[in-house]
Amino acid sequence: MPRPALPCQTDLMSSAPPRPFRSSKPSAPLSGSAGVAGDKSISHRALMFGALAVGTTDIAGLLEGEDVLRTAAAMRALGAEVEKLGPGQWRVSGRGVGGLTEPADVLDMGNSGTAARLLLGLLSGHPLFAVMTGDASLRRRPMKRVTDPLSATGAQFWTREGGRLPLAVHGAADPLPLDYRLPVASAQVKSACLLAGLCAPGITRVVEPEPTRDHTENMLRHFGAMVAVEDTEEGRVVRLDGQPELKAAPIKVPGDPSSASFPLVAALLVPGSRISLTQIGLNPLRTGLFTTLREMGAALKIENARIEGGEAVGDIIGEFTALKAVDVPPGRAPSMIDEYPILAVAAAFARGTTRMRGLAELRVKESDRLAATAAVLEANGAKVTIEGDDLLVHGTGAPPAGGGLVTTHMDHRIAMAALVMGLATQNPVTVDDASFIDTSFPGFAALMNRLVGSDAIRAA
Ligand code: S3P
Repeated sequence: MPRPALPCQTDLMSSAPPRPFRSSKPSAPLSGSAGVAGDKSISHRALMFGALAVGTTDIAGLLEGEDVLRTAAAMRALGAEVEKLGPGQWRVSGRGVGGLTEPADVLDMGNSGTAARLLLGLLSGHPLFAVMTGDASLRRRPMKRVTDPLSATGAQFWTREGGRLPLAVHGAADPLPLDYRLPVASAQVKSACLLAGLCAPGITRVVEPEPTRDHTENMLRHFGAMVAVEDTEEGRVVRLDGQPELKAAPIKVPGDPSSASFPLVAALLVPGSRISLTQIGLNPLRTGLFTTLREMGAALKIENARIEGGEAVGDIIGEFTALKAVDVPPGRAPSMIDEYPILAVAAAFARGTTRMRGLAELRVKESDRLAATAAVLEANGAKVTIEGDDLLVHGTGAPPAGGGLVTTHMDHRIAMAALVMGLATQNPVTVDDASFIDTSFPGFAALMNRLVGSDAIRAA
């Protein structure tokens, strides 16, 4: 059977011209039921673990966004067979733990920090040479947070100034297991250490100050590895038994709760709306936004809650609500780290001042998301202040004016948050470039337009 082409650099959007988009008040509220794009975190991991397993892993509901396609291309470049069988249906024939082979060319991870950092963990445990790069956004992001701990495996890294991409890595022939306490709460760094630990003998131990998303741990167990997790005074301790034989296992990827947050908040903000988002991942380490929205008074319900493939899944029902301001504690940040831009939009429509605490990590996302989020709101007539690492949004309870032009800084979530805002502001909101939405949520505009029954989001 001929292999469908995987994207090469020229197919992907880092070289494409910017696509300005505009959103305006829809003539009807959001209604009906919809699924959203597959979970990005789980999709990356499904491809990577499938490539390390013995046997054939069938994946259903894979996110076919640019970020995940980069991981698919990288796993293929490292010797795994990765085939697309149909929409969202993929098959990976693995090489076994330690079985990846040297890539013949540079690995280009595009816009994806998760793909880059997790892959560096994997590469550390294989005695091969690889060069990695990414788009202008990824080349600005810190990689030292993974190359520092991974160096203790025996892997060697040569990076640009400040530990940035492009970088070269030579993985360790006899990798040592890591014992590492994360200085920042980061699932990417934790996962990079665990992926390196797969190839090392003995126990790899990672301690996290705050629990972060545990898709890596869940999927490793799903593939037969021994992973123990314990809450101690030091923090959450994760222990992996090294050099397991990972056995291929089917994976059903749930809808991404981070993607679901955009139509959900739109339904809360556009008067008269009521929607149901089906088959959404509800891993408790991902649901901080839903907790926060409930505290703001949101009419939000979960139905059909169940466990599928080791992950919590359910349907989310959201209805228009007049929201009130809240104080979001810093400890909640890891469970909603990608949701602050859309929460800030919700807060701009709420009555009172919402304070979101402890957002330092937002400065090193696809953009400086703290500054970019504040700019989305300011450009559209909402009042915001940044105090240290806290973002304060001063809502009046009335819709902000809108009418702004938002710079998205190559950041998909800034683009989507701004376009959701424009569905409920008095005047339309324009973004300079919506193309990066395809990294995590291909079909975002079409889905939103289906829910409102018109082209409320369109090319500008
Ligand atoms: C992710 C972890 C988070 C998140 C990112 C996906 C993951 O990053 O922001 O979108 O899949 O592990 P950090 O680990 O840098 O917080």
